[in-house]
Amino acid sequence: MGGFLTAERITEEQDLWSKVKDDIIKTIAQAEGDAHDDGSYGPLFIRLAWHSSGTYEAESGTGGSNGATMRFEPETSDPENAGLDKARKLLEPLKEKYPTISYSDLWICAAYVFLKESGGPSLEFHSGRVDVPEAGGEGVENGRLPAAEYGVKDKTIEDKDEEERVNNWQATAEHVKQIFTRMGLSLREACALICGGHLYGRCHRENSGYAGKWVTEPTVWSNEYAADMIEDTWVFINNHSKMLGKDIHEEVCPVAGNKQYVKKLEEDDSWDEDQQMMLVADMILLWDDEFNPHLKEFAEDSDLLKKEFGEAFKKLTELGCPWKKEVVEEN
Ligand code: HEM
Repeated sequence: MGGFLTAERITEEQDLWSKVKDDIIKTIAQAEGDAHDDGSYGPLFIRLAWHSSGTYEAESGTGGSNGATMRFEPETSDPENAGLDKARKLLEPLKEKYPTISYSDLWICAAYVFLKESGGPSLEFHSGRVDVPEAGGEGVENGRLPAAEYGVKDKTIEDKDEEERVNNWQATAEHVKQIFTRMGLSLREACALICGGHLYGRCHRENSGYAGKWVTEPTVWSNEYAADMIEDTWVFINNHSKMLGKDIHEEVCPVAGNKQYVKKLEEDDSWDEDQQMMLVADMILLWDDEFNPHLKEFAEDSDLLKKEFGEAFKKLTELGCPWKKEVVEEN
């Protein structure tokens, strides 16, 4: 941006974003009823903001939310981004209505608006991300976003220890650590981000091949993800597993080839729509000695998680942004 903004220009900018935010609230609510999952498009916007930011590499300063490069190949068809075309399409009418704003700002703003609406942290939105122009635009290469079963993909569901930990889960833990460290984030920030992010929304067989929601109310802020991870018993399953002699409920049954965790059914329980799931990449927060102490703190204190998740999400979504670069260059 550069230079100082006049008071008049600042007011214009604030008015503009306040209108955009109102329209984002209306867009999120279009999912009410049966239109989408749990009656909100909000979780899709959290994932869009995370995946557009989570490509950042601190060392080279490449990737990140600035540029909105998910519009371009090979990033558009990164398997990890499956399903996010829907989120981008939902925001398209807003970009048409407010042509001066960038896609990169709009995608991040949509997530902030939902976080606040859902009772999560209220984050100050900083605009100023600049889109890579359509002509000749290139996306970030695949492989920068985390995979849910990294290093354990070919294991069978019998391939686990007495505590239900899939053999070689350490490879997934290492992978997740490397990805967040590459972005310049700490393991505590990574833990806060996953504990806050996977409160929201669901896995979809048609996108990732996994299925189900992490918590019972996936559109409302809580620390249920962290608390349930510790308190409940999680069982490793695949597409044809059975529990108490019954097939796994379709809500939490992954596609053939994929494995995930589901909450153990007790003798007198029966399957219902409220079944919960975890990915291997979630369970590592419980098993890994470097993640576990942070998980425990967040499980015990929802306000602490809200504060630290909010700070980490703002940091994540501003990695590599123009105003951050100016700060680095000035120092
Ligand atoms: C270890 C890191 C992570 C892995 C491996 C991972 C993996 C996944 C997978 C496989 C899905 C299912 C996508 C689908 O089938 O539609 C998903 C959904 C989601 N993730 Fe993550 N994720 C990670 C971290 C995060 C973080 C840090 C956030 C946010 C701060 C986040 C937010 C979400 C949200 C909100 C959804 C639900 C989207 C919807 O309802 O459509 N994830 N994630």
